[in-house]
Amino acid sequence: MKFFIDTANLEDIKKANKIGILAGVTTNPSLVAKEGVKFEDRIAEICKAVPNVESVSAEVTPDALTAEEMIAQADELIKINGGDKRVTIKLPMTLAGLEACRYLADKGVKTNVTLIFTVNQALLAARAGATYVSPFLGRLDDISQDGVQLVSKIAELFRVHNLESQIIAASVRHPDHVTRVAMEGAHIATVPYSVIEQLTKHPLTDQGIDKFAADWEKTKSQ
Ligand code: E4P
Repeated sequence: MKFFIDTANLEDIKKANKIGILAGVTTNPSLVAKEGVKFEDRIAEICKAVPNVESVSAEVTPDALTAEEMIAQADELIKINGGDKRVTIKLPMTLAGLEACRYLADKGVKTNVTLIFTVNQALLAARAGATYVSPFLGRLDDISQDGVQLVSKIAELFRVHNLESQIIAASVRHPDHVTRVAMEGAHIATVPYSVIEQLTKHPLTDQGIDKFAADWEKTKSQ
């Protein structure tokens, strides 16, 4: 399973990239709003900051309701940085979003169909040519449904039918989500930087570091 980072914060993106684990970046309107920056400018900055990653998701704005409106926005987004092919158009899971997805997929543009909450939605997105499908596990858990089970079912369905879309486990809230979606066959987890930090932690690691440091001090007087 690969890691994408789920943020529009440049510093967090750079920090995650420094440790050599990053394969992509996902953003959404809420994450961009949090940064108080112009959307297209931030996507351009992200692309420049992480030349090594495979994908940078840029979501069409919520006021684009028809496929034509979404495609018009996508046409501008794919021009970013002189036509960076990694810019991935993130589309909502609606009829219009699927129509835009098929159009863009046929043009060779990467797409990420977002806000997926059922297996059927994932199947439709895959058949519409989505490069990535994004089931939101945390938001399902929030309403007492099982987000990891959804990822597991989508992974099984894609295996059975040889569907090429990659599953991005999204709305990941904690390390246990990461372990479980990796075991269940998600291709990618997109996670906030705070979760990446948590993934490195174990109390025995900290204790071990402290013990080695204390013992190393002793060697200085030997
Ligand atoms: C994914 O692409 C979304 O940006 C994200 O994972 C949503 O997560 P949230 O439910 O924590 O807002």
